[in-house]
Amino acid sequence: MSKLWSGRFATSGAALLDQFNASLPFDKKLYAEDIKGSIAHATMLAKQGILTEDEADQIAKGLLQIKQEIEEEKFVFDIAHEDIHMSVETRLIDLIGEAGKRLHTARSRNDQVAVDFRLYVQKENLVIVRALEEVIDVLMSIAKEHTNTLLPGMTHLQHAQPINLAFHLLAYVSMFKRDIERLESSYQRNNVLPLGCAALAGTPHNIDREYVAKLLGFDSVSVNCLDTVSDRDFALEILFNISTIMMHISRFAEELILWSSYEFKFITLSDEYSTGSSIMPQKKNPDVPELLRGKTGRVNGNLISLLTVLKGLPLAYNKDMQEDKEGVFDSVETVFMSLNILKEAVRTMTINVGRMKQACEVGHLSATDLADYLVQKCNIPFREAHFITGRAVAHAEGLGIDLSVMSVPELQKVDARIGEDVSEYLSLVHSMNARTSQGGTAVSSTCKQIEIFETWITSRH
Ligand code: ARG
Repeated sequence: MSKLWSGRFATSGAALLDQFNASLPFDKKLYAEDIKGSIAHATMLAKQGILTEDEADQIAKGLLQIKQEIEEEKFVFDIAHEDIHMSVETRLIDLIGEAGKRLHTARSRNDQVAVDFRLYVQKENLVIVRALEEVIDVLMSIAKEHTNTLLPGMTHLQHAQPINLAFHLLAYVSMFKRDIERLESSYQRNNVLPLGCAALAGTPHNIDREYVAKLLGFDSVSVNCLDTVSDRDFALEILFNISTIMMHISRFAEELILWSSYEFKFITLSDEYSTGSSIMPQKKNPDVPELLRGKTGRVNGNLISLLTVLKGLPLAYNKDMQEDKEGVFDSVETVFMSLNILKEAVRTMTINVGRMKQACEVGHLSATDLADYLVQKCNIPFREAHFITGRAVAHAEGLGIDLSVMSVPELQKVDARIGEDVSEYLSLVHSMNARTSQGGTAVSSTCKQIEIFETWITSRH
């Protein structure tokens, strides 16, 4: 089969070369973007008098027919056509003849692939934002139910201070909100048309790039053609954004794994989203959060791969850049599926409120409150209060009880300045509710955070 670029070649290439060189097996995913870009290009060429209206019409009709053939799985993909761009163009020429041969006027595959890939990334950016919104909705509805559910807040995975479950979940809402904001800022920055740059240096044809930008929904036209055909920053940005989302998901997944263990038992994952063991009949495994944690590795790999491909490339287009697509497709699909299953696993899990509270009753979670009491009520400098509290904790350990339930006489053995009113300060609920500072865990502060996120959510509709 003769290739569209075969003019200067004496013999056709080896079959092995076709296989090695082709991107068709993966870039056929871009067929809709390719056809959309070509229709916009042909429409512009006709407006500028470079094609006749009739030619542009034939091209648009032919391209729409090809789209239908692909969607009905009637299109014959032949690896000898190298990529989706030449597959579509070859078929167009088959279908409409002469007019089809004029489509590639004032265009190169270098700006064509840049526009196709950018349209894809922009489209998927919005899809990921939507999936993040849905996860946030689930977290918010659980948070609203659990502002009073005590949970041990941890540092170093050791009991630290009592918090509530809503406060904990809102930490993830904060992360996913930033993820949305990052995607949206990438969307805006990258909503720029690459088409019309041709191979690298622009074109002598009297094209109208602003018009094509409008037809394709871009806000503006790229400034420098040499940069445009070699720029893959938009792809790197979505890869980084996805890696950050997956890193957040992975941290949450790690907690779900811990929380569903016998040691914690804070949650029970639903049967629907748990798996069994092939040998141990009693097992119910958290495969979903484990896979979420595991898949974070591959999306990070995709980011590093593309950074490495691009590093050191001379301007402008180099074939290395064909390696830009598979990792992006993989990361996009991975994060989309991950967000969807995370949403379902969290929505269907059972929250064991009693176990969370019980866990707060060990580890002397209100120790900081005793120190704060000594500062506020007894005017003791914090460093000294910290030391006295440490002694009280050691005393409680000796008695085999938690500081939160230690009697006043026992506390006074540690320091006689401790008053009768101390017990109230040491209760877990009091401890949690004492942290009323902005962004703190007190129920009042937690409710304010819920309000802030709800205002943000409604402002987006
Ligand atoms: N399949 C190519 C890619 O994905 C399209 C661009 C080809 N350009 C070229 N000058 N060979 O990058």
